[in-house]
Amino acid sequence: MKPPALSKTIVDLFQSRVKDGFYQSPLGRMRVEYSSDATRIAEYARSRFTRSRLVRTMIAEFHLSRNSLVVSDDDHVKWLKPLFLSHLAVDGAMPQMARTILMAALPAPPPDSPPVTINISDELIRETYRAMLDKVLKVDLRAPLDEYIKATRFRHATRPMVLEGLMYSLNLHRLLLRPLLYALEWLFFRRTRYMQRISRKLEKLIATQAIAREGSWLTTLQQLRDQGKLTDAQVNGEVTSMLVASFSLSSALGSALLCLAALPRYQRLIHDEPDFARYFVMEVLRLYPPFRQFGYERLADEQGGKCPVAASGEFVISTYALHRKADHWDRPRKFFPERFLDPDAAKGFRYLPFGMGKRLCPGRWFSLALLEEAVKYVCSDDSHIILARRDRLPTGHRGCLVSFAIDDSLTYQAKDKAS
Ligand code: HEM
Repeated sequence: MKPPALSKTIVDLFQSRVKDGFYQSPLGRMRVEYSSDATRIAEYARSRFTRSRLVRTMIAEFHLSRNSLVVSDDDHVKWLKPLFLSHLAVDGAMPQMARTILMAALPAPPPDSPPVTINISDELIRETYRAMLDKVLKVDLRAPLDEYIKATRFRHATRPMVLEGLMYSLNLHRLLLRPLLYALEWLFFRRTRYMQRISRKLEKLIATQAIAREGSWLTTLQQLRDQGKLTDAQVNGEVTSMLVASFSLSSALGSALLCLAALPRYQRLIHDEPDFARYFVMEVLRLYPPFRQFGYERLADEQGGKCPVAASGEFVISTYALHRKADHWDRPRKFFPERFLDPDAAKGFRYLPFGMGKRLCPGRWFSLALLEEAVKYVCSDDSHIILARRDRLPTGHRGCLVSFAIDDSLTYQAKDKAS
């Protein structure tokens, strides 16, 4: 059954429909075009656009910052992104990083114990976050910080997009209406508030309990702050980005493990042909893109002039729907990594797990490399665990900005016991 288009659901709830595919708020404030059509997306991509206000506002809520690369405007991103990229090496450390995450998130049970079952997402968020602090922010963690992270239950719940859109449209993100937002969150979304509290605490702990290594990304950020080029809030924003990036990465990593458990024949294939892991990961990101939808707004009108706010609109791409559209994919719901053996398979704006345009994800090569190494490791003779067979592929959850598999329980046992 075709899932309902999310932005359509959002806007249908509280906005009037103007014509097919377009929606206009009754106040004339927010015009949303929803698309999961590669041809239309390709056409849109020829215009001048940037990340949309709606998505930036949503991320700011989730991200706790209006000051990071993810949330700030193009001018800020233009000079900071190349610096960030110079610290984001895809190097020989990737296999070790993948292994460290997996060994900590799925600790080997004692040799004679029965298989263990865990909910993988929350475990992965914590361990990916620790690895990101180590390998990307490049800091050493003093005991209180490391202990806090180890003892924290990271939750992957955020408010559903439909509510984010509703709140945005009702202007609940504005300062005056903050108390109302807090009251709603306290009543209905305690998990979101819980994660916000944890992120705030982590920002503070990192400021006092993380020792930046020489030449690290954190040292660079602090130097930029000392030169007056960044504020404290912007440095904190980049620190919190590590947690947000860990959400996306662990969503993908969780889906990859769940798919491997459901499809042992690919475990055997990747064991024999490790390079196939790249196609496997691409297929995981096709069927379970961590960012289920993403939004843009136009910067220029047809004549190239500056777009007035009312006309810039929102262009929301549902990657989830795009990646499963029968017009663009042969047997779209089938898990079939072999489709990516064709070098053209991902072309033509039909495959956008990392977004598009100038605000495209700078972490994409890093993420692909890490995911690939994780998949290779689990399929290799070196793996410390064996995955128990799952009877089905995971079910994709499509409601939140960064979504995780709904049924994320994974059973495994220690390798030496099984072999
Ligand atoms: C599988 C993992 C990941 C996925 C699926 C993902 C996806 C995305 C998407 C869809 C965007 C928005 C792109 C757009 O607006 O067109 C984005 C932005 C971003 N991502 Fe990722 N991401 C992942 C991992 C990471 C990692 C590991 C990092 C950092 C190390 C990272 C850093 C960023 C940053 C800084 C931005 C904002 C870029 C800008 O605004 O110009 N991401 N990501």
